[in-house]
Amino acid sequence: MNNSSAKRLSEILALEIKERYGVDSVEAVRAKIEELILSDPSSTTFDQYLQLSKTKSHNAEWQKIIEKITIHESYFQRNENILNSVAKTVEQILSEKKTLRMWSVPCATGEEAYDLAFIATERVYYQKYGTTTLNDKLLEDLSLDHVYIYGTDISETSLKHAKLGQYNDLTMGALRKLDPVRRRYFFTQNPEYYEVKPQIKRMVKFVVTNVMDPPLQYNFDIILCRNMLIYFGDEQKKRCQENLAQALAPGGYLFLGSVDQFLLNPDDFIQHTDEQSIWYQKK
Ligand SMILES: C[S@@+](CC[C@H](N)C(=O)[O-])C[C@H]1O[C@@H](n2cnc3c(N)ncnc32)[C@H](O)[C@@H]1O
Repeated sequence: MNNSSAKRLSEILALEIKERYGVDSVEAVRAKIEELILSDPSSTTFDQYLQLSKTKSHNAEWQKIIEKITIHESYFQRNENILNSVAKTVEQILSEKKTLRMWSVPCATGEEAYDLAFIATERVYYQKYGTTTLNDKLLEDLSLDHVYIYGTDISETSLKHAKLGQYNDLTMGALRKLDPVRRRYFFTQNPEYYEVKPQIKRMVKFVVTNVMDPPLQYNFDIILCRNMLIYFGDEQKKRCQENLAQALAPGGYLFLGSVDQFLLNPDDFIQHTDEQSIWYQKK
C-alpha cells in the first residue's frame, strides 16, 4: 500500500476509534495506525482495512490496532491520595454491608485492581482482629469470600499480564511506590519478580471490555476510573461516565482521576470531599 492510501485509511480508522473506543487525540492515533499499516503492507489490503472500519464487532484486527494506540502505564499505589479516600469508603461499606463489590476500570496490567484487593484485605483484617499489624497466619485464616473485585481493560495483552500478577522493578517500575509491608505480605518473592499471592489473586476477576459498551456487571459499591478519560473526546467521556453510573449500586461511589471532570447530572449524586480528593455517591 502506498503512503497516501495509508494516510487516508488511518484518518478513517482514527475517527472510527474515537467513536467506538473513546480514544481521541486523533492525530496521534492516526500516526500510530499509519505506522501499523505501513509496517505490515502485505497482510492486509486497503479494501480489508476499509471493510474493518465498517465492521461492528470487536475482532482481532481491531484488537491489533487497539494494542498499538493505547498507553498501559500503571503502578501500585498510584495517586495514593485517591486510594486513601477509597480505603476510608471501603471501611464504611464493610461496616454497613455483608458484601463489597468494586471495579477498577481500566485496570491495564492489574496494579490498580490489586490495590483494591490490598485495601479490602487490610480493612477486613482490621475488622476481624482489631489490629493493623499483619501476620501471615492470621492473613491465611481470613475469609475474603464476600469481596468481589473486577478489573477490566480493552487491552488483551495487559490483562494477560494482570492475571499472571508478576511484577519486577523493571516492568515499567510497577513496584516503585509499593509499601514494603504490602510487598512483604501480599507478594511472594522469586529471583526475577514478585508475584501477587494466590489469596489476593482469587479476589480479582479480569475481563476484557470496552468502557464505551454497556457494563457487563452492575451493583458496584465502588468504581475507580483513573488515567483514561484524559485520552477521550468530550462526548465519549460523558458516555463512559453514564455507563459507569449505570453500573453503580444505589448509594455506590465513583472515584475519578484527579484531573478528570465529573460530567454527570449533579442532582443524581452526592459529592464527597476530604483533604485528599473528591468522589461521587449515586443517590
Ligand atoms: C494509563 S492506563 C490507566 C491504568 C490505571 N487505571 C492507572 O491509573 O494506573 C489506561 C488504560 O486505558 C485502557 N483503555 C483505553 N480505552 C479503553 C476503552 N475504550 N475501554 C477499556 N479500556 C480502555 C488502555 O488499554 C490502558 O490500559
